[in-house]
Amino acid sequence: VSLNLIMLGAPGAGKGTQAERIARERGIPKISTGDILREAVAAGTELGRRVKATMEQGQLVSDELMIAIVRDRLAREDARRGFVLDGFPRTVAQALSLDEIMRGRDPLIVADLAVAEADLVRRLANRLVCGSCGTNAVVDAAGNAPKSCQQCGGPLVQRKDDNEAVVRERLQVYQRQTKPLLDFYRSRPTFREVDGAQSPERVAADLSAAVDSALKQITSTQGAGR
Ligand code: AP5
Repeated sequence: VSLNLIMLGAPGAGKGTQAERIARERGIPKISTGDILREAVAAGTELGRRVKATMEQGQLVSDELMIAIVRDRLAREDARRGFVLDGFPRTVAQALSLDEIMRGRDPLIVADLAVAEADLVRRLANRLVCGSCGTNAVVDAAGNAPKSCQQCGGPLVQRKDDNEAVVRERLQVYQRQTKPLLDFYRSRPTFREVDGAQSPERVAADLSAAVDSALKQITSTQGAGR
């Protein structure tokens, strides 16, 4: 069975952090729509020019554009053996299209990272990312960030959409447009909720266990259907 995982959760819930880790551990690609868009903005491509202002205001890019990007990406060979999607779907329309894209492939596993709003605001206000490669800076227990990126040595900067006003807007957009996805997916046997307020290591362990139980569920259902 392929691991076809989607990570749900509010801005700052830790989707990117956990997606990166589980994709590495399981040997499948991490597909982050936020990263794809930020790379396009940084490279100044046609796509980047179209989405820059929308992203800086904390609004969602159009469903049509996002669905086309994800459809193309999931058709690539490396994603046929599984993937971790981070940041997509974000609307019910995107989720409906994803179901259609997934027809004939193993079922989606849906993991929701739950974190209280006050924690989200604090995490995003404190986040620094590498201006060159986009990696999150690792802050130590005393709250100190290193001077430069530990992956590539690039300068650490605040993401343009991490200032307080835009963070508030992103959280509202999440409540309005993305949270309804929980009702869309909750009744599926492969839906799992993970407590995202724990340490990154605990979250990773719980996510891994949740994914394994969902994979088992798929195997037993497929076995029964044979
Ligand atoms: P996107 O990049 O997806 O942003 P987001 O959903 O707001 O998510 P973040 O990257 O802010 O948070 P995260 O949950 O990944 O948390 P992270 O692991 O970084 O999207 C950006 C924009 O692109 C959108 O606003 C929209 O405009 C557009 N877009 C993208 N996809 C789209 C789509 N499908 N449709 C339409 N528009 C789309 O962690 C956050 C911080 O917390 C880090 O500093 C991290 O180190 C820290 N942290 C992580 N885990 C823990 C932990 N367990 N304990 C303490 N700190 C932690």
